[in-house]
Amino acid sequence: MPFPTERPRRLRRSDTLRRMVRETHLSVDDLIFPLFVCPGTGVKDEISSMPGNYRWSVDLLPAEMEEVAALGVPAVLLFGIPESKDPLGTGAYAEDGIVQQAVRAIRQAVPELVVVTDVCLCEYTSHGHCGEVAEDGEVLNDPTLDLLAKTALTQAQAGADIVAPSDMMDGRVAAIRETLDGNGLQGVAVMAYSAKYASAFYGPFREAADSAPQFGDRKAYQMDPPNRREALREVALDIEEGADMVMVKPALAYLDIVREVREMTDLPVAAYNVSGEFSMVKAAAANGWIDEQRVALEILTAIKRAGADLILTYWAKDVARWQAAGGGG
Ligand code: PBG
Repeated sequence: MPFPTERPRRLRRSDTLRRMVRETHLSVDDLIFPLFVCPGTGVKDEISSMPGNYRWSVDLLPAEMEEVAALGVPAVLLFGIPESKDPLGTGAYAEDGIVQQAVRAIRQAVPELVVVTDVCLCEYTSHGHCGEVAEDGEVLNDPTLDLLAKTALTQAQAGADIVAPSDMMDGRVAAIRETLDGNGLQGVAVMAYSAKYASAFYGPFREAADSAPQFGDRKAYQMDPPNRREALREVALDIEEGADMVMVKPALAYLDIVREVREMTDLPVAAYNVSGEFSMVKAAAANGWIDEQRVALEILTAIKRAGADLILTYWAKDVARWQAAGGGG
């Protein structure tokens, strides 16, 4: 047979043909925009390792949120940088904590925006760990559950639509669900960071949130990167405990996990395109080595192709602008 009879190239001959047979579509509807809230007034402080991303004081948030909503981005994920830190991370669950204030301000200004709050203690603890720390340095699981449940409760009472525990303590989804339900907040959803790995890709975030552990690392609670079956167990546990959505984090080096999680559950699957994944592209683009827009859209589309329904990404606003300008995706 001198010539091939099947010719896949026939369907690649024009942009219109390619558009017709395209299997994956990235939509702004799939995106959640993470951002950082800090004390003070009039603060819009650029994060040096994450160009185009800022720490915002609460008073400037409504205008920024109006822009996010006007671009069609449906949701934001809030992280807080408190005035002061202490060993028990009390700023995380203070009724007038930084995130609680931010949620109220956004709720009032842009009610249609979905507000997701990160539930964790590491931005609020003086030692930078995600839970209560014992004398010997161990991060204590069960005492931390109460603090996480209080954090989720105060965030939900402030008006959060979705709470997203990112601490990786065992049993936190159940503890949060029970506390929310016990306080009449059955309508607030839980998006669990179910398979969250102890990754070096969080570096820029820790600079942004000033949340690097002061001693040791997070390997005794976040997952070991080589593990796959364990991720599926974590997801199964969170579903049993009542998670409404499950997340894989980071995204790019874990696309196999995204695919497997997609196959094991009918719940919405989220993937977090984390700070280091964003900063690498920014740095290379700043050097003129790659095209930021094309690479970002390729990455985000690949995360979707792997099976994610939702993507948490620092490019959310850019994607909306690129697509409005007719750029691919
Ligand atoms: C808090 C938290 C982290 C991220 C999201 N929630 C940092 C960490 O676990 O050290 C990282 C997000 C990113 O890198 O973009 N536990």
